[in-house]
Amino acid sequence: MGKVLNVLTSRVIYAMDPLLKSKIDPKRVPEHVAIIMDGNGRWAKSRGEVRIFGHMNGVESVRASLKAAREIGVKYLTLYAFSTENWNRPKEEVDALMDLLVSTIVNEIEDLHKESVQLMAIGDIENLPESCRSALKEGVEKTKDNEKTTLVLALSYSSRWEILNAVKDIASKVKTGVLDVNEIDSAAFEKSLTTAGLPDPELMIRTSGEHRISNFLLWQMAYAELYFTETHWPDFRKEHFFEAILSYQQRERRFGKTSEQITEN
Ligand code: FPP
Repeated sequence: MGKVLNVLTSRVIYAMDPLLKSKIDPKRVPEHVAIIMDGNGRWAKSRGEVRIFGHMNGVESVRASLKAAREIGVKYLTLYAFSTENWNRPKEEVDALMDLLVSTIVNEIEDLHKESVQLMAIGDIENLPESCRSALKEGVEKTKDNEKTTLVLALSYSSRWEILNAVKDIASKVKTGVLDVNEIDSAAFEKSLTTAGLPDPELMIRTSGEHRISNFLLWQMAYAELYFTETHWPDFRKEHFFEAILSYQQRERRFGKTSEQITEN
């Protein structure tokens, strides 16, 4: 019964895809969308399966999100694939996740390259297993000149780790005379973040009903619109992505100004 319902629900949602997409204003599409892919474990558990089954099914959601992003012209898509805190999970889950990352990168890189997707990774990459580092290195190198879409994988990433590293980098620049204390501003600081050169995300999506940011892009999301959906990540499809974009387009982004100031401009 559960399976029948799942199939029916996904058919209804698939049918909604063109309708939702047609409602999107192409002039107000965010340039950068960041996603916290949550709920894989719960999704698997509700089906009587092990957690990694959820992660494996989450790969299809990654494909769907990238496709949706490209269809409407989102230029940067950042996915929180593995946090610094995720190292504390049971070893078999961590190992299985690393294997899944490697096999996904290896299997998908040719298609990504053909579609002019540039692969990037942010986080404590040196801490990843060698197989993962070399798959990433190869993928990043192969796609480095692609310009249509940038897919950023946050791996062994946490924002506090990133900010502390940036502080150390700035401190060493000051110490060695490369930078004057009075020159430390947002732009100088951003150069020391792992996201240097990327625009800040205008929209952050988190699946699976949790209303948290979980140490993700804290600096970069200062003005991001936050969108939360109950949908577990393995069920997330293009239609869900379009729904998030539509929600974003209904919001007024004021950046500290008044509503009147925004509408006057
Ligand atoms: C969070 O769900 C999900 C993760 C920690 C891993 C996400 C990884 C993938 C979808 C693998 C493929 C990704 C790429 C980019 C190739 P959770 O396990 O915390 O779920 P729960 O909250 O229900 O336990």
